[in-house]
Amino acid sequence: VQADVGPGGLRVLRVTAPSASAEIYLRGAHVASWTPAGTDASVIWMSEKSEYTDGVPLRGGVPICFPWFGANADDPSEPSHGFARLAEWELVEAKDVGSTVVLTLRLHDDLATRASAWGHRFEALYTVTVGGHLDLALTVTNPDRKAFTYEAALHTYFGVSDIRSVSVTGLEDVPFLDKLDGPSPLPAEGEAVRFVGETDRVYLGSAETIGVVDPNAKRVIDVKPRESSSTVVWNPWVAKAAKMADFGDDEWTTMVCVETCNVGAAAVTLEAGASHTMSVRYDVTGR
Ligand code: BG6
Repeated sequence: VQADVGPGGLRVLRVTAPSASAEIYLRGAHVASWTPAGTDASVIWMSEKSEYTDGVPLRGGVPICFPWFGANADDPSEPSHGFARLAEWELVEAKDVGSTVVLTLRLHDDLATRASAWGHRFEALYTVTVGGHLDLALTVTNPDRKAFTYEAALHTYFGVSDIRSVSVTGLEDVPFLDKLDGPSPLPAEGEAVRFVGETDRVYLGSAETIGVVDPNAKRVIDVKPRESSSTVVWNPWVAKAAKMADFGDDEWTTMVCVETCNVGAAAVTLEAGASHTMSVRYDVTGR
């Protein structure tokens, strides 16, 4: 693991393991790339237009949305998707385990988070295992004497050859909220997700394995969430991409977000002293 200074002066850890390489920014504990050995490009997508500046989350990679998802319900002036992706995380440990490198990063409450709309005491530990699989695990602990509730999402951007030929399998039987269509859940579609326009769905469940099937690239990315009870699938398409300053106008064709979540009705309540771990494994196979 090499500690380096990246764009905008942000501190970045460059990890080289026998089975893969990766980059992780301390800002947001943000995984920005993961390249398994023998592949020539990162499976994780970053925007060419990402900003690397204070107060602006990176665009792409694996943003950690915590402790709320989307706009804050109590205070719309709070940052979208919570404060964790804007905060500087601390590297607690980096160690070699077999052919992988395991990093542990930490964030806990401070004056600023306690003054936010979600002011609880907390500790978050994030474990990133860089290998032929990429394993991500977010453990949140409540060190206080009263319960709290939080939302969390690992908002991963995957690179694809062309979103118009990609499908997402595994969620066929899961009802969903269509964020573009109003607050009532829609019934499961009974078929894989395909992309024909802006897509912003919160699935009210998950699956053992969710597949990002990319026939042009002859590749499937397997997403294996654990302790996750909701899943977001997002692609901004043309108009929304054009509106985002930190997103290239044509980049919507080459990415899709499949997010391992506990959001909305699946928010986690932690009693005093309790912990919860949500995790996901990514694995790439040819097809
Ligand atoms: C998705 C949300 O998870 O994230 C979308 O469902 C949102 O509604 C997208 O547009 C990107 O959010 P942000 O805050 O990173 O621009």
